[in-house]
Amino acid sequence: SITHVILTGGVGSRLWPLSRKSQPKQYLALFEGKSLFEMTVERNRNVADTIMVVGNSDNCHLSKKVLEKSNTSYIDIVESTPRNTAAAIAFAAFASDPEAILIVTPSDHIIDKMEEYEAAIGDAIEKASKGYIVTFGIIPTKPETGYGYIERKGDDVLSFREKPNHVTAREFISRGNFLWNSGMFCFKAGVFLEELKSFTPEVYEKSKIAWEANQNGKLDLNLSLDIPSISIDYAVMERSKKIKVVSSTFVWSDLGSFEAVYDYLVAHGHPADKNGNMVIGTTNYTAFVGLKNTIFVHTDTANLILQKDHSQDVKNVYNELEREN
Ligand code: GDD
Ligand code: MG
Repeated sequence: SITHVILTGGVGSRLWPLSRKSQPKQYLALFEGKSLFEMTVERNRNVADTIMVVGNSDNCHLSKKVLEKSNTSYIDIVESTPRNTAAAIAFAAFASDPEAILIVTPSDHIIDKMEEYEAAIGDAIEKASKGYIVTFGIIPTKPETGYGYIERKGDDVLSFREKPNHVTAREFISRGNFLWNSGMFCFKAGVFLEELKSFTPEVYEKSKIAWEANQNGKLDLNLSLDIPSISIDYAVMERSKKIKVVSSTFVWSDLGSFEAVYDYLVAHGHPADKNGNMVIGTTNYTAFVGLKNTIFVHTDTANLILQKDHSQDVKNVYNELEREN
């Protein structure tokens, strides 16, 4: 069987104040009335026979609303606190048959060119059924520091490097055989758990204990707090020798930061002024004087004024506000 595992635990803190804990970006109906979460469900409807959602108690009602609207049954895993993607994916794997193939995707990406997407998924499923852990590689266009990089030779992965610094990212791009990790994965549930167990045994053991105590898919808070918070990229992808990459040419965009949103909006006809300044969230006439590459974000309750090349730092504002509250 093939299960689509949707990760929807993040709050998208780099998109504050558009994205909030109560209304994370993947549920905002920004795209012709649809949300990224809804588009994620639709995109994989034909490729998987089961849907599993790994979210949290703040957003499970938002997922439910979308899935009920289309009468879609799904397995609901509800975290009581985010413990990052290694644990979130471990819960999905524990909930599955070890032979089941999992297609793990975030819920907040834009993907286009469905034929190529489906071909890539087909290719990945074939490799996963042979026991590999498959990543989907995207041809990089700039030295982005918010992504993982896959050094490859054909579909073999020589190394995986999560979030390199700018100098290293530049070197990777100039070497020519590096792809961006799209953040989607495909593997047998049992293979993932074996790799997790051998490389980060503490995450494996503590996730297992927490999972075994679940109540209708809901995780216990205290048992969850015991699980080390680490992403699948550091926990498994940087260390496993069983990784293969499917390089694909589907259109992919992670609207993870305002810089990515800016690029997306420019490509879709939303104007920036001649100095590269952009307004998001208001039609009020806004003037930028003496500023370049500045993004002004307006919402009812908060404004953000951002120098575009500091987009990765917006999460600090979010974290600061979380600490104060
Ligand atoms: N359920 C759950 N629980 N989901 C989570 C948690 C959690 O604790 N933490 C993150 N997620 C979800 C996010 O909502 C998102 O959909 C996905 O997992 C990935 O997490 P991000 O926090 O967005 O990761 P990232 O963007 O920093 O990096 C990952 O994605 C990049 C591409 O977008 C990595 O895989 C990179 O290597 C990759 O390039
Ligand atoms: Mg992301």
